[in-house]
Amino acid sequence: MTSISTLKIGPSEVDELIMLINDYSGYDFSDYSMQSLHRRFQRYVDLNKIADFKQLLQDLMNDSPMLNNLIEELTVNVTEIFRDPSFFAAVRSELVPQLNKLPLIKIWHAGCSTGEEVYSMAILLKEYNLFDKSIIYATDINQTVLDIAKSGKYNIESFKENEINYIESTGNKKLSDYYTVLNGEVLMNDDLKSKIIFSTHNLVSDKVFNHFDLIVCRNVLIYFNKSLQDNVLQLFYDSLTENGILAIGSKETLMFSPIESKMQVVNANWKIWKKKV
Ligand SMILES: C[S@@+](CC[C@H](N)C(=O)[O-])C[C@H]1O[C@@H](n2cnc3c(N)ncnc32)[C@H](O)[C@@H]1O
Repeated sequence: MTSISTLKIGPSEVDELIMLINDYSGYDFSDYSMQSLHRRFQRYVDLNKIADFKQLLQDLMNDSPMLNNLIEELTVNVTEIFRDPSFFAAVRSELVPQLNKLPLIKIWHAGCSTGEEVYSMAILLKEYNLFDKSIIYATDINQTVLDIAKSGKYNIESFKENEINYIESTGNKKLSDYYTVLNGEVLMNDDLKSKIIFSTHNLVSDKVFNHFDLIVCRNVLIYFNKSLQDNVLQLFYDSLTENGILAIGSKETLMFSPIESKMQVVNANWKIWKKKV
């Protein structure tokens, strides 16, 4: 039996694919981390058993669902409920007192993926009676993950781990208070959705669309190069209210960025910063 050997993607193939995607869809991936893009293109080629690069380019030019599928494969969508429980513990102990003082709380989750992080925040807000005066915008570049986020339906398997995350985040109820199980699927409670607006927003090309007391963008900047990280951090700065808070991922930083001197550290471990007035 002969096995088809798939294509090996190198730097020039990555460049050609980025150019084609930009020309045919308008999505600009040229400032994403090359390493990450390389891994994602290789994965796509291997999964689809693609052996001929020229044919791949032709197919992508002629088949827009195929092109969309490739674009969606380029983003990493891993997430979970109360991911990094200590981050949410820090939100409870350090941010809730500040949010409590506001008459209306506007929050933006940028790069929300399938929504678990957003539902976690909604649950947390409920537990401090802040939910009713909150509005949460949850955005992502990828429509497919946003559709899952909107549905609030998840695989039940992940919920054993999620329950542990919730407890470690110092939650003192039961995570199961916030969802029902139907036909082996978890369905987040409808009232959690009532204050969440899910929408597409591309951090590369879209602009400021509102002002927020809290912006959460975790595990997104790691996929961008330094220049795009700087642009996105500036977009966040411009989207923050006075005293507004920015939380990025534990492996991300705003040090050496154009906004560093205009922000003060709230929690260095969990990369939580506040806009200086
Ligand atoms: C690893 S997930 C992070 C999910 C969640 N914030 C968390 O930390 O669990 C990264 C998300 O960033 C999104 N993303 C990548 N590029 C983006 C862009 N240019 N604009 C908006 N979202 C983007 C991806 O689609 C993906 O859903």
